[in-house]
Amino acid sequence: MLKGKEIVLGVCGGIAAYKAAEFVRLLVKQEARVHVVMTQNAQKFVTPLTFQTLSGNPVVTDPFALLEETQIGHVALADLAQLIVILPATANIIGKIAHGIADDFLSTMVMASKAPVLFAPSMNVNMWESKALQENIRILVERGYHFMEPGEGELACHWYGKGRLAELGDVLEKVEALLSPKDLKGEKILVTAGPTQEPIDPVRFITNYSSGKMGYALARVAKRRGAEVVLVSGPTTLPLPRSDIHLISVKTAEEMRRAVFGNLKNCSVVIKAAAVSDYRPKEVSSSKVKKTASSVSLELERTKDILGELGQKKGGRILVGFAAETGELVSNARKKLKEKNLDLIVANDVTKPGAGFATETNQVKFLYPSGEIKDLPMMSKEEVAQVILDEVVRLLQRSKKVKMAT
Ligand SMILES: Cc1cc2nc3c(=O)[nH]c(=O)nc-3n(C[C@H](O)[C@H](O)[C@H](O)COP(=O)(O)O)c2cc1C
Repeated sequence: MLKGKEIVLGVCGGIAAYKAAEFVRLLVKQEARVHVVMTQNAQKFVTPLTFQTLSGNPVVTDPFALLEETQIGHVALADLAQLIVILPATANIIGKIAHGIADDFLSTMVMASKAPVLFAPSMNVNMWESKALQENIRILVERGYHFMEPGEGELACHWYGKGRLAELGDVLEKVEALLSPKDLKGEKILVTAGPTQEPIDPVRFITNYSSGKMGYALARVAKRRGAEVVLVSGPTTLPLPRSDIHLISVKTAEEMRRAVFGNLKNCSVVIKAAAVSDYRPKEVSSSKVKKTASSVSLELERTKDILGELGQKKGGRILVGFAAETGELVSNARKKLKEKNLDLIVANDVTKPGAGFATETNQVKFLYPSGEIKDLPMMSKEEVAQVILDEVVRLLQRSKKVKMAT
């Protein structure tokens, strides 16, 4: 998502300056183009060489730098930046920018730029709580600047309280959100993810290999693109999604069904990425089944077909399903698309290397009711989520056009 994006990272003279080096690595891993600007005080904590090596670009350290012979450095970078991140942001830089002081490269560049600016502050708890700092943050937030909330805990100065640099993963998520189009704003999207667990007895259950990664990626990307997101998730080992995603955790297919239909109100899109168990044990033993008999058989009954029911009660909603198959991919997916009344089915052969349940990547085909098929190359699950949501945006626009015409 950050591929080719021009990000300027301002590093200030705070004890968390060393974490900025790791942040550059995270951005570079996403193929962003990173340009580091260090204040004079930042250079007392970490050397420019570290940032130059990690970013692969020259580091601006001189307040009156010329990037190339004829370019005025702060203006050139101010114009180039698609986003400016200040990490760590000192009380000093926050104060300077709030009051229009431009006495070094970083503060001057921020003033000269129209790019969004994200501050990730880090400081001693008393500095954080000081009236001057809080007032300066209020001024900047009112002017449209973005802030990461610092964390709480033991600080480098041995005080305990608020002032730790936000987790780098959270800063990265915010960077991606700030650089994403907001083409799903106003839409409420329900995503299901993960497997279900159907109990046999209090200690055993039937489940499948679904990791939830695809559904979580969809929820994350939809949120970044401005949607209100409800994520109904079966049990997974994934980190909790960001707090503004409404997570509903369930275990069984029946719990998932109730959560889906209980939260369908005002949803314009439903994406069913969960691998819901088709069968469950007919009898659930209330105590642990003991190993007495040499063999046992388990009678299974059908669970309710959530996707089928959604298709019947679809209304004007866009309904996207998944088909994870081990053979006859296209014919099985086409059958499911039709039977469940879907607008799009995302089909993948889970036996292919890199396209299975717990992998980081996926290779999928899109099938449409018109009979059209789109083959996609191997991609990360997050990239697959982006393309699925591009299709959702297209389908929403089409259905709005149809509504306007009728
Ligand atoms: C060892 C040390 C650690 C510091 N840590 C922080 C910090 O975490 N946050 C902060 O706002 N200031 C911190 N300061 C104070 C800043 O370095 C000082 O305000 C400086 O003027 C900031 O300059 P700059 O914003 O141009 O980088 C620290 C100072 C020292 C000597």
